[in-house]
Amino acid sequence: MKFPPNIILIGFMGAGKTSTGKELAEALNFEFLDIDQWIEEKNKKNIPEIFEECGESFFRDQEREAVKWAASKKRAVISTGGGLWLDEQNRSLLKTIGWCVWLKVGAQMAWKRVGTYLAHRPLLSRSQDPFNEMQKILGERDPVYALAHASFDSDGKNPKEVSREILGLLKEKKLFDLD
Ligand code: S3P
Repeated sequence: MKFPPNIILIGFMGAGKTSTGKELAEALNFEFLDIDQWIEEKNKKNIPEIFEECGESFFRDQEREAVKWAASKKRAVISTGGGLWLDEQNRSLLKTIGWCVWLKVGAQMAWKRVGTYLAHRPLLSRSQDPFNEMQKILGERDPVYALAHASFDSDGKNPKEVSREILGLLKEKKLFDLD
């Protein structure tokens, strides 16, 4: 099966979507797009401020708008926020514009990567027991992340290694027509 030449990275916080996305974009000579960054720039606020001042549902609306903007792109690696893929409308549109790749991460590794910087994770920072909350959300989301076209484990690997694995499959299966 061939896909339009875009890679969409989905998965939980701490899966390495941004860092792996940058590696992939460089290797393929694609543009790198970060949905959270687009929302922050558009609103001139960072993600915690948007959650605090405008609420989560406003943020989710912004994500839907960002997906529509990203849908016009070609030869892009698109890194998404951890909750964006849960929206059915976002999933359907993203699946038509490129190869959707789930970067899998386990609870321990996700915690190692995000637990020290909780102020930037509004879904966790408000909880009395952020680790427990993170495990709960991860457990609920994993079956939905599994609807992506492909998945790769990120536990214990650096972004370069994960990117190399993704590129390997991309080339082996000739998923894009790249001139
Ligand atoms: C969220 C993940 C964050 C960010 C927002 C909500 C989520 O992005 O979009 O805090 O719902 O999981 P990262 O996955 O890049 O941390």
